Amino acid sequence: MNSEIKVNKPEPISVPKEIAIFNREADVKSTIKTLEAGNYVLITEFYNNGAVLLKEIQYHLNKTFANKTFKEQRAYRAAYHKLSNLIVIEIEEHQLVVKKSPNIGWFKKLYPDTSDFLLTFPQVQGLNSAWQWYENGITIPVLRNKIHPFYGTYFPTRFEHLELFDNWLKRYSGPKKSAIDVGFGSGVLALQMIKHGFQKVFGTDTNPNAIVGLTEAMGTTKLSRKVELDFGSLFGKWSKPSELIVFNPPWLPEKRNIENLDEAIYYNDALFPDFFKAAKEMLLPEGKLVLIFSNLAQITGLTKSHPIEEELAKGGRFKLERCFNKNVKKASDKTKRDLEHRKNEEVELWILTHI
Ligand SMILES: C[S@@+](CC[C@H](N)C(=O)[O-])C[C@H]1O[C@@H](n2cnc3c(N)ncnc32)[C@H](O)[C@@H]1O
Repeated sequence: MNSEIKVNKPEPISVPKEIAIFNREADVKSTIKTLEAGNYVLITEFYNNGAVLLKEIQYHLNKTFANKTFKEQRAYRAAYHKLSNLIVIEIEEHQLVVKKSPNIGWFKKLYPDTSDFLLTFPQVQGLNSAWQWYENGITIPVLRNKIHPFYGTYFPTRFEHLELFDNWLKRYSGPKKSAIDVGFGSGVLALQMIKHGFQKVFGTDTNPNAIVGLTEAMGTTKLSRKVELDFGSLFGKWSKPSELIVFNPPWLPEKRNIENLDEAIYYNDALFPDFFKAAKEMLLPEGKLVLIFSNLAQITGLTKSHPIEEELAKGGRFKLERCFNKNVKKASDKTKRDLEHRKNEEVELWILTHI
């Protein structure tokens, strides 16, 4: 693992020596009282006891909270968050101590120097599902090999935008010496460009896990000589202009400080103006600037504005060559409202050139 870059991972918890435990014999009511008083509870005996206690918390909160209006739901979620994050579980020699536990390889990979520690149960659940994705891999329709997304790294779960990009790459007839992938995530766009014959791809990401993950995934294969990565914002340390720049940015605007939010999902006011300003310098005269976007923020009423349309309307830097759209198949039937959104959701592939 790259020693200079510090990966994001759940911080081990220190708990008092005297800690309440929860197992099949424990009294649920008094356990919930302990949690409500702000004290930790340790899961013992079986892994499943953690899930049992989470269910009991939900049951308890359902009785206490109305959970109907938006405000009530928010209060319910806050209470659930507070209580569930006091449930802890023990790791010894990079393994969960309790019986019938899943095997989670992240303990060894992310905490090489600490073999015994405690994490909260929800954190372990998150690590467990991330380990499943990593181990089993994800088949991406436009790529030959599965990707194995590293812990805490964005990966696509729908592929319409990748298909749009692939179709465009098929017809692209310009030079293929180099390309830049801004915010490469788990590397899918970079891999697509290599597949279509680009000799070199320079990538950046502000998420340290993305750097560590893709570096590990490429290992010493031929790919590692074709894809170079930098941990940095926008164009990072890359300063040589390229014939193709691609950016699949976050799709949702956010006014709050986004430091603690997911940078793969939310963007602040500065991101797009800064990106276009830098891209103007980094795109070769005949080059193509490709952006992947979606109307998600607009159809969910988050904003009326569209950062790429705004850039084009402002003028002065880039002009539109083409914009391809594709309807997104619905991802889930979770709620009716969700379905309504999905109906009109479209991904967009914007091709811009210098003015
Ligand atoms: C929507 S994801 C796309 C990832 C990948 N390119 C893909 O298409 O699957 C956006 C990525 O951009 C990264 N990112 C966000 N802001 C960035 C910035 N200012 N500079 C570089 N990368 C950034 C995020 O960490 C995330 O990996």
